[in-house]
Amino acid sequence: MVSQILSLAAKAKADIESATTSEAIDDIIKGFLGKNGGLGEILKGIKDLPDDQKKLVGPEANKQKDALLSFAEQKKSALAEAALTAALETSTFDPTMPGKKNLNLEQLGGLSPFTRMADKAVRVFEKLGFAVWDGGDIVNDFENFGALNFPDDHPAREMHDTFYVEQGYLLRTHTSTLQYHILKTKDFPIRAIVPGKCFRNEATDARHEAIFTQLEGIVVDTNITVTHLIATLELFLKEIFEEDVKTRIRPGYFPFVEPGLELEIHCLVCHGSGCRLCKGLGWIEVMPCGMIHPNVLKNAGVDPEKYSGFAFGFGLSRLTQLKYAIADCRLMYADDPKFLGQFQ
Ligand code: PHE
Repeated sequence: MVSQILSLAAKAKADIESATTSEAIDDIIKGFLGKNGGLGEILKGIKDLPDDQKKLVGPEANKQKDALLSFAEQKKSALAEAALTAALETSTFDPTMPGKKNLNLEQLGGLSPFTRMADKAVRVFEKLGFAVWDGGDIVNDFENFGALNFPDDHPAREMHDTFYVEQGYLLRTHTSTLQYHILKTKDFPIRAIVPGKCFRNEATDARHEAIFTQLEGIVVDTNITVTHLIATLELFLKEIFEEDVKTRIRPGYFPFVEPGLELEIHCLVCHGSGCRLCKGLGWIEVMPCGMIHPNVLKNAGVDPEKYSGFAFGFGLSRLTQLKYAIADCRLMYADDPKFLGQFQ
């Protein structure tokens, strides 16, 4: 009986040797262990054997079974490996190619310094309770000028070199165009900001672009004073620059504010010694602002005897230039990865 086991095992081993798939190997094993002419049948007959034979057959059956199973496993993994090698040979994918070392940050996408500044500015005002308004780029003459106290024949209208569209429409020259609409809500206390694109027909230089982004803000309620204005803007600047920045206030003229002011900060690029950005002055105008002119309130149906408020509107690219010490604003829009990569 032992010899029967040995010959069964030898046959199964030879079959496995020549098998070409792991399914075929499984079938051979099944047959080898089976009750029909296999190891199963032999084990069934053990009980009829003389004692000395019994002692031999059991262990031999187990030994052959274990040896065959491990041989089958070896053969299966050799087949799998051969299949993988064959697949890799016909594939164009090269898993041995080394990864990119020293990945250059300039090659990674990221937010431009301008976008970072815009997001942060909006977040700071949101924290202070300002609602964010949006408006169209194309507005009418009334929204851009008339509602803001620019009389028809006033030379102040010439302050902006405007891109006119058709039928009295124009590309807004400032985000102040939303003031009228915000005031008309009469939803006091009003605290709103308008980040948005503006357009002026002017030549570009280190501080000016024909298309730029402003952030307008207005606050209107009873008893709003210039103190609220200055405190709000100083708080904003401190949040943006993460340091106490030196500011000063000078008079400025805009027909829609009275008094009109210019908030200036100590130049953060040259720290006062004078550079291209601050035109050598050491100070730089960052925030035109003022108390909303009574006529602007009246135009929107708000009683200037009862309500007062302030407004400001600044260019976001200038703040970005100051924050990141960028001497020329044109760099920010040039899409040069060498420049943008520095800020990632
Ligand atoms: N709209 C003005 C400009 O674009 C800026 C400004 C806004 C001034 C609000 C005062 C108050 O120049």
